[in-house]
Amino acid sequence: MGNQYENFLTAIDVGSSKTCVLVAEVTDGGLRYRGHGVAESRGSRKGIIVDLDKAVASVQKAVEQAEDSAGVPIEHAILGVSGAHIRGVNSHGGLTFGAKSREIGREEIRMAVDKARGVALPADREILHLLPQEFILDEQAGVHDPLGMMATRLEVRVHMVTAASSAAQNVITAVNRAGVHVDDTVFEPLACADSVLRQDERELGVCLADVGAGSTSIIIFQEGAVAHTAVIPIGGDHFTSDLAVGLCTPVAEAEKIKRLFGHAIVTLIPEGNEIEVPSVGDRASRLISQRMVGEILEPRTRELFEMLRDNLRHSGMLEFCVAGIVLSGGGSRLPGIVEIGESVLRRSMRLAWPLPLAKMPSTLAEPEFSTVLGMAFYGHRARSARGLQDDRWSSRLKSMLMGKGA
Ligand SMILES: Nc1ncnc2c1ncn2[C@@H]1O[C@H](COP(=O)(O)OP(=O)(O)OP(=O)(O)O)[C@@H](O)[C@H]1O
Ligand SMILES: [Mg+2]
Repeated sequence: MGNQYENFLTAIDVGSSKTCVLVAEVTDGGLRYRGHGVAESRGSRKGIIVDLDKAVASVQKAVEQAEDSAGVPIEHAILGVSGAHIRGVNSHGGLTFGAKSREIGREEIRMAVDKARGVALPADREILHLLPQEFILDEQAGVHDPLGMMATRLEVRVHMVTAASSAAQNVITAVNRAGVHVDDTVFEPLACADSVLRQDERELGVCLADVGAGSTSIIIFQEGAVAHTAVIPIGGDHFTSDLAVGLCTPVAEAEKIKRLFGHAIVTLIPEGNEIEVPSVGDRASRLISQRMVGEILEPRTRELFEMLRDNLRHSGMLEFCVAGIVLSGGGSRLPGIVEIGESVLRRSMRLAWPLPLAKMPSTLAEPEFSTVLGMAFYGHRARSARGLQDDRWSSRLKSMLMGKGA
């Protein structure tokens, strides 16, 4: 943005079901809502662009709406990236300075992190984030701030989030073609965490699951750092298509039925309830028992949480989620989802609503907007970190490691 608009921050979330653009203003009192736009997503599925022209048109529509409501032109933005092509891995690297200990400066930290990122990546993958977990100084682990300390050897453990280069690039291209420059990209649940997780949860160990339309993105924090990230290929749209097939009704009708009558626990639906289901073709609509809706949705809900449980078990993370699991995203609105999730994972679960921006309309205070709101908080945090002159490693490292683009 030009100088005139440098206090504005725009976030773009190209989701599987909706494309959302949020404009916030950075004020002395923090972030303030300025405007937003939402358009139905077309041309993008599960984080992948399948029809560029349609995706560009959706972004353009949401951007224009946001420009009108904010009263400012949108030229730059931070963009969310997600989808099943994302992989998270933990890595480790370090360097020895010699027999005599040396004071650790910014350059030494940079070199250690370079070693950690040095693992061979396939040519078609790129690093989205390098998130430091801890530093190890002369075999003393658990150091959060090595700056200014003395050591003969410095090691760092990082969590690396990688994306398929072409998939990430295609979303950037769609936004560029809509006339907006992408300043920075962020793995969506990392940003979402900023709007829904509390610091004590991050310290204790928590899993955030953003149940979107095309997939469920997860991120785990332990001792305040990112320990694991993954994407589970089931989202709310799978629930809808199960209903469409099971009830033999058009997808749009299945979506309405899910929102109006959906429940993840069959036995909690009163036995006598009947609902009208439109048929496909020109057949007459039918009356069915509402319990049938639950009979279709409950197994899918269990499957989602079984996949989450297996992912957390295989990565060795389940036992670390002491503060439980936090659900967000539009798919988390299905009644009964928390009870099923708790019974499958045997962990406490809560539904999260996003932290509001000042002056924000209440329509945005919904779980499907947690990610775009989190992107505004994340963008603000990253921007402040770049501007900070203090010596705290977190802010300095952030500016070093996250400071791509602008
Ligand atoms: N009341 C509801 N009950 C059940 N599901 C709902 C409800 N409201 C919305 N959903 C589902 O939430 C999903 C959309 O959520 P969201 O807007 O978070 O997805 P997205 O960000 O577009 O997709 P993704 O994150 O996968 O790219 C849809 O599958 C929709 O059916
Ligand atoms: Mg989403």
